[in-house]
Order: sequence, then structure tokens, then C-alpha cells
Amino acid sequence: MTTSPNTQIQPLSFAFDESTGQVSIGGVPLPELIKRHGTPLYIMDEETLRQMMQSYKSAFERYPAPVQVLFAAKANLTMGLCALIQQEGLGIDVVSGGEYYTALKSNFPTENLVFNGNNKTVDELELVIHHGIGLISVDNFHELTLIHQIAQQTGKRVDVVLRITPGIECHTHDYIKTGLLDSKFGFDLSRLSQVIDLITTDYNETIRLTGLHAHIGSQIFEIKPYVDLIEVMLNLFYNIREHYGLTLTHMNIGGGLGIAYQSQDDPPNVSDYANQVIDKLIDYAEKIDFPLPMLILEPGRSLVATAGTTLYRVGSTKVIPEINKTYVAVDGGMGDNIRPALYGAVYTALIANKYNEPHTRHVTLAGKYCESGDILIRDLLVPESIAPGDLVLVFGTGAYNYTMSSNYNRVPRPAMVLVNDGQSQVLIQRETYDDIIARDLIPESFLTQKVSAEN
Ligand SMILES: Cc1ncc(COP(=O)(O)O)c(C=O)c1O
Repeated sequence: MTTSPNTQIQPLSFAFDESTGQVSIGGVPLPELIKRHGTPLYIMDEETLRQMMQSYKSAFERYPAPVQVLFAAKANLTMGLCALIQQEGLGIDVVSGGEYYTALKSNFPTENLVFNGNNKTVDELELVIHHGIGLISVDNFHELTLIHQIAQQTGKRVDVVLRITPGIECHTHDYIKTGLLDSKFGFDLSRLSQVIDLITTDYNETIRLTGLHAHIGSQIFEIKPYVDLIEVMLNLFYNIREHYGLTLTHMNIGGGLGIAYQSQDDPPNVSDYANQVIDKLIDYAEKIDFPLPMLILEPGRSLVATAGTTLYRVGSTKVIPEINKTYVAVDGGMGDNIRPALYGAVYTALIANKYNEPHTRHVTLAGKYCESGDILIRDLLVPESIAPGDLVLVFGTGAYNYTMSSNYNRVPRPAMVLVNDGQSQVLIQRETYDDIIARDLIPESFLTQKVSAEN
């Protein structure tokens, strides 16, 4: 008999086979995955990825104007994922030359790329304007001038939206509405007329203003802030039409929809989110008599987090009877998942090779890196028999794990594989020690000194 997953937290293809006692993801039993790819290992479930992408697309289908779903590359990007995103008909939101280049080299259509970020460099802007970009979300006056200059040199006219701070900020349940937001991103609303003046006069030949963009936060569990955001943005669209005779056509409401990392988490589902967003747009646009804009979304985490699982092997354990504490250390940690150390992110995990044993023993799941703060899970329930060699599966690691990874302690990064139908395909190869030293150089002068010392 096969036990199916808790699909809120585990990838859709997660399964436990009673007859073999083995856990599998994408139809590949974990021992087989280890034999092929080793540990630690980022495992991406293709079924979950595709299902999430399709659910975004279908949830917004009934919106009467165009919709563009952009995957926020910062959550997780590889060339293989670019290909999958393209197959599913999504665009990509990039925030650096590196993310753009990854998409470009994957033959991703550049018109489906949007470039965000608060300090785009001249090199980055030249790269994207030269090779092509769907939209640039302009963050500040400095950038606006750079775009104008580069567009002038290349004889292009660049389509832009303006990133604004709408006075709404939200993280999980923490929802704040402020008059003027303290944020490093975007234009505050009092600057908006100055920017539009500049674009519509001096920069009219090089820059075409198509709309507005806002991103109100991450891991958001409420839909109301998005509904409020739409009203704020449509009012701005209305006022801009009144004052400039300019009818904006693009509304980018950012990403931020939350996911369940723990069983008590209860994020909204994509279709509820879509329905409330669409209803508000239709109702409010009609109320103020404004044509429905094209809707742009930039989800990151909600598209990829649950598809990802990290597989580790247990090494050392340390029991401290005086304080009744047990540390269980795995062969990865803050180098492949910095989020718990960085901002106290929480995860759910289990011991896969002892799936059937009751998980009743409280331990602290530690990493192998030389920082006391390298703790992956502060209080994890594991079987009483936990021992070196056991396999730990940490769920929900498909977003902001690999992209925030490092070579701290010169530990090579894990491989990332895509699993489906009993197959595993490598998305990123495991780093080797030679990769670690590949860019190191010993200064010439040191080599000469060494030779003379030997002489
Ligand atoms: C501008 C912008 N768009 C989209 C996202 C994606 O957010 P999430 O992964 O929470 O959906 C982010 C995340 O920081 C962002 O800054």
C-alpha cells in the first residue's frame, strides 16, 4: 500500500510504499536517488511544479483582459527550470544580469522577461536593452536617466512600468497600511507626477510608460491587502489619465502569496486569490469607468517552494543530558538553506528511512557549518532510534534555498534534480572541490618567492 502526501507541505508525488518500506519522490525511491546523485540533494518534483504553474494560469483565465504570470526568478532559477517555465507559458521576473543571462542562454523569449530591482547597473541595463526585454520596472530617477541614455545610444524605445510604494506592506499576518512607506524600493507616491512629467516630455522618444508595479511583501496569508492594492493602483491610473491624458495599460501587483511550511499554516489557495483579485479589478474599474488593464503577477515562492525537498544524511549526534537536548547533525545546513539562520524560517521534516516508526523524540536538527546558528529545525520529532546514516527529508525547500546558497566553509553546493515518472534528471550538477578552487589564483609574486626560497 502506498501512502499519499500531505500536499499542503509535501510535493504531490511524495509516497511511502509499505511493501518496500521506502519513500519515493517522483516515483524514484530515495535509495535510488542517493545512488545516482548522493546527498545532500535538492529534489524538485516536476508534477508539483507544473501543477502550480497551471493552477495560476487557469485561475486567472476568466479575467477579461490579458494576464501575464511571471515567475520570480529569485526564488529558484536554473536553465532547466527556464525551459519548463517556457513550456508552461509563464514569463520570468529577473532582478539581475545573471538571472537575465540564465534566461537568455536558455532561449527564453526576451519579450516575456521583466527586469526589476532597485539598483540596476549600467552593464545590466545595457545587456537587457541590447538583447531585448519585455518591460523594465523602473525603480528610481537615476535608473530612468540611464535607460534614457542607453536607449538613445541604441536607437530603441523601452517599455517601462514604474515601481511604486503604495503604502501597503504585508508579511504573513502582519499587514500595515502606511502613508509614506520606508522602503528602498520604488517611487513614493508624492514623486509620481515628477517622474511622469520627465517621461512624457524629455524622455518621450526613448521611454514608453505602460503602467505601474508594486510588490507588497512575501509569505502573505491574506488576500485583502491585494484587493486594497488594486484600488490604490486603479485610482492612480485614473488620476494619471485625468492629468496627463495617458491611459496606462499594465498593472503589476507583484508576488508574495504564502505557502504552508508547517501543518498549522493556512495560506489562501490560488483560485481564491485570483477570484478576489479579478472581482475587485472588474468592479472597481467599472465604478471609475477605466478600461481593464493587463494584469501582471510575479509569484515566486508559491510556484516552487512545495515542489522542492532537500534530502540529507544524518552524521553525528550529541546528547546533552543536563539540559535534555539532542543535536542531530546532517551533511548540509546553512550553506544550502540559510533561511532558518537568516530570519528564523521554519520547516517540516521527517526521517525517511524510518517513516513507519513513531516520530516521538525531540531533537534539534543542526547543519555541519561552523556557526552555532547553523540550525535547520529547532524542535524536530524523530524516531527514538535516530542514528548516523538515517535520511532526513526537509520539505518546502524549493524557494530561496538554492538561490541563497553559499560555499561557506568551502563546502560544495548540492546537486539539484528534477524527478518525475521514476526518472531523475540533473538540473544543477553537484559542485566538486575543483569547482571550489576553480577561480582561485595564487599571486605570481608568491610563486616567485617560493622558487627563490627553494633555491
Ligand atoms: C518585486 C518582487 N516580485 C516578486 C517577488 C516574489 O515574491 P514571492 O516569492 O514571495 O512570491 C519578490 C520577492 O521578494 C519581489 O521582490
